Amino acid sequence: MVDIAVIPGDGIGKEIIPKVCEMLSTIDSSIDFTYYGISSERYLNKGITITDEEIEDLKSYKSILFGAIGDFSVKPGVMEQGVILKLRKELDLYMNIRPAISFKAITGNNINMTILRENKEDFYSDISGNFNEHKTFNKNDGFYNYNGDINIESDDQIYYTMGFLSRKNLKRFFRSAYKIAGSENITVTDKANAVPMYSLWREIAMEEAEPFKREIAFEYADSLAYNMVRNPKKYSYVIAPNLYGDILSDMASSLTGGLGYAPSGNIGDKSSMFEPVHGSAPDIAGKNIANPVASILSSIMMLKHINQTETASIIEKSLENVIGEGIIPVESGGHAGTHEFIEKVKNQCSLLKNEI
Ligand code: NAI
Ligand code: MG
Repeated sequence: MVDIAVIPGDGIGKEIIPKVCEMLSTIDSSIDFTYYGISSERYLNKGITITDEEIEDLKSYKSILFGAIGDFSVKPGVMEQGVILKLRKELDLYMNIRPAISFKAITGNNINMTILRENKEDFYSDISGNFNEHKTFNKNDGFYNYNGDINIESDDQIYYTMGFLSRKNLKRFFRSAYKIAGSENITVTDKANAVPMYSLWREIAMEEAEPFKREIAFEYADSLAYNMVRNPKKYSYVIAPNLYGDILSDMASSLTGGLGYAPSGNIGDKSSMFEPVHGSAPDIAGKNIANPVASILSSIMMLKHINQTETASIIEKSLENVIGEGIIPVESGGHAGTHEFIEKVKNQCSLLKNEI
């Protein structure tokens, strides 16, 4: 039996993820799903983002399938930082793999690149506050060990969020990134010209490339953003710090059909969590028009990660066939609603499975 934790979350996450799980169950009855009702709705009713018990529980799964979290009726950041960023940190998911691969029938091009995003550090930091308040920061979680004390006064209102990078985390991140990239071409991006902490990023990028005997190209994030749009085929693997990786992966998805086609995997040494790159899309939630492909692709990444390769390839092939037959999601100008699209893929999976 394979046990997977599922957090559908909010908005289109809630609309898509349970249907994707139903689809997986029909192809592979050995997969078991345990649902967690972590959502903005629960937060609005009970004031709970995620409990310590839920985090401990989730740590016991090898894989989690996540929809999206966030709702415009909750203050920005409460759910995003309180749930998704917290899970990435608490479960030590230091590598975020974000493929941007086009379906020819959708985009007419064949772009194939993957953004490898550092997932724990940079400006996604809770070392944050404002001047005129005394703050202490203590972290001793088995990976980080630091104590800080910030006590500054100002006659202005000044907020800060301290970006940070650690040698220990970057070493394992780059080692893993180079393993994933294999012999494909690699571009490492940063803003080492403007933000001093990226000198450590570069240093470790070079250090860790050494044993792999790899040529690495460096490109500043602004230049990369420009060239990625003008000449996307130049890139295979882009290795990016957390914040730029977040932005560049949404941008890359626009070249391969849209956010509805962008899957991702948050990978750690013990746990992993797979989720579409997009958020809860409250503007289209409940209308049966959200594109489920990103979530289906995320489930395929998950299955490959836990070595359910046969199920993964049945879904992969079915998805290609369905799109190839001209069943196109609303996001790309087609008529296939969320549920109809998943249903078509599910039927195709059953057909292919019977052929094996
Ligand atoms: P979003 O990714 O939810 O939506 C951005 C735009 O893309 C919207 O116009 C939306 O309709 C469209 N879109 C997204 N996914 C789509 C799909 N599958 N099919 C068709 N169109 C799609 O980003 P937004 O609107 O900035 O954020 C909404 C909420 O989600 C916020 O609370 C945000 O913080 C949260 N969020 C959560 C994430 C997560 O849980 N990992 C990631 C990104 C945002
Ligand atoms: Mg994002």
